[in-house]
Amino acid sequence: MLIAENIHKSYGKVEVLKGVDIKLSEGEIVALVGTSGAGKSTLLQVLGTLDSPDQGNIWFEGQMIHQLPEKMQAKFRNESLGFVFQFHHLLPEFTALENVCIPGWIGKSSKNEIENRAKDLLDRLGLSHRLDHKPSQLSGGEQQRVSVARALINQPRLILADEPTGNLDTQNSQELYDLLFSLTRETGVAFLVATHNMALAEKADRVMRIQDGMI
Ligand SMILES: Nc1ncnc2c1ncn2[C@@H]1O[C@H](COP(=O)(O)OP(=O)(O)OP(=O)(O)O)[C@@H](O)[C@H]1O
Ligand SMILES: [Mg+2]
Repeated sequence: MLIAENIHKSYGKVEVLKGVDIKLSEGEIVALVGTSGAGKSTLLQVLGTLDSPDQGNIWFEGQMIHQLPEKMQAKFRNESLGFVFQFHHLLPEFTALENVCIPGWIGKSSKNEIENRAKDLLDRLGLSHRLDHKPSQLSGGEQQRVSVARALINQPRLILADEPTGNLDTQNSQELYDLLFSLTRETGVAFLVATHNMALAEKADRVMRIQDGMI
């Protein structure tokens, strides 16, 4: 589903990625581990077309996504990609329910359908009693779960998650992973998750370690 070849990325003189190769198949859950600063977030952002590689190629379902015009990349991100950010970027003036619905309003589904799906996801994430809360009225872990629901609203083919349990207690991170894993199994999406949580990494189908800019 996703192939990345020889990805290089530097910030100024800091060479973060030095020739990363990755293959992800449908229905596969892969954990990306590595020390803080190793380049996990950088890699996810490049794979998700939020940042461009200095060198190398990325194919998603046969398409070279990093070379698409910006408009097509935005369409790819909206329709095919679910991104769970390390810092969740919820929109402060909108409620939890609206934050989850917003990426759905851009697509073809009806407003009702999106709202029902959003409520269902928020319910599965234990947030049905927080639909009308704004982000500032939610705990860090609740905000994180809202951002997971938002990533799933358009039924993506690929989920890129960056430390999605960083703000959660053991019980809630366990539940979040169970949900993400069962959705992956149910729908055949590919799931790449950067994490420091080794208990989680052990449950993935495969663990990739990023070290010295390479996998
Ligand atoms: N915009 C930027 N400008 C300059 N340097 C950057 C930028 N973004 C990241 N870096 C540097 O690139 C390196 C990799 O950062 P990255 O965020 O990918 O690490 P990470 O593996 O996600 O770490 P963590 O586990 O702490 O989240 C770090 O040394 C960081 O300081
Ligand atoms: Mg990071």
